[in-house]
Amino acid sequence: MTSRSPLIAHLEFSNVPAPEEVVKPTLAIIGAGGHGRVIADAASLSNDWHLIEFFDDNCSNKKFEGNWTLAGQMKILMDQQSTERKMVIVGIGNNGLRHDLQKQLEEKGWTIATVIHPRAIVSASSTIKPGASLMAGAIINTGTTIGAGCIINTKASIDHDCQIGASAHVSPGSTICGSVQIGDRTWIGAGSVVSNNVRIGNDTIVGAGSTVIRDLPDSVVAVGTPARIIRRRTLNSEFNSNDVKIELSN
Ligand SMILES: CC(C)(COP(=O)(O)OP(=O)(O)OC[C@H]1O[C@@H](n2cnc3c(N)ncnc32)[C@H](O)[C@@H]1OP(=O)(O)O)[C@@H](O)C(=O)NCCC(=O)NCCS
Repeated sequence: MTSRSPLIAHLEFSNVPAPEEVVKPTLAIIGAGGHGRVIADAASLSNDWHLIEFFDDNCSNKKFEGNWTLAGQMKILMDQQSTERKMVIVGIGNNGLRHDLQKQLEEKGWTIATVIHPRAIVSASSTIKPGASLMAGAIINTGTTIGAGCIINTKASIDHDCQIGASAHVSPGSTICGSVQIGDRTWIGAGSVVSNNVRIGNDTIVGAGSTVIRDLPDSVVAVGTPARIIRRRTLNSEFNSNDVKIELSN
């Protein structure tokens, strides 16, 4: 999905013949919390979607305007058949939960959407996998791969030749230097710097404002400048998907 629809391209270049009418798909977003709404905002500005539907178990009273609507609980979406006219993205901030839900949706045959804010800068030689969301001011440089379900948040930059694992989250204002590897479901806190060539394992947390200058293993919490490990994470510790029970299967 490009960030600019053929219709818009036509409006900007009026000597181009009118395209066939393009019927845009619906974007279903799981989660109507802060992260889900930031995705919806980026999606609206991209002008790629006919309608934006939220599915959320916890906000039945929420009202939206324009082409945003609260369509009901998550189970309603899971009971629907996948269709070419609707794509889905998981708009939940918890990395483990987002990872699990995206896998379940894929298994049920849904097409997973990628949402890129029109003011993100994305190298043509980078790869952005399904379910990723790139927010306003994000910069993805050449040769970098952004994994499935990743969040590259507001004003975060990922430089050349990085590998960002599935469902990782690079928080607002972080700077990831060249040739960095970040594991699956790892969370880089806001305003952090990860120095070039560093490798960070899976399920690790880097605290806000940290500077990572050496490799970090799987499943640790590291903070400060330079970042030091303050503890190991266990499977049931906070920020883990096991904390949040959501049953999607029938
Ligand atoms: C790293 C983090 C997850 C740790 O949370 P926690 O496990 O609850 O840790 P605590 O608050 O108990 O702090 C433990 C120790 O680490 C220190 N610490 C925590 N976060 C720190 C940080 N970002 N930088 C430096 N030190 C930090 C605390 O001061 C405390 O030190 P002390 O034992 O000497 O008093 C959290 O502090 C953090 O930075 N979260 C990221 C927030 C963020 O970026 N949000 C963006 C959302 S889009």
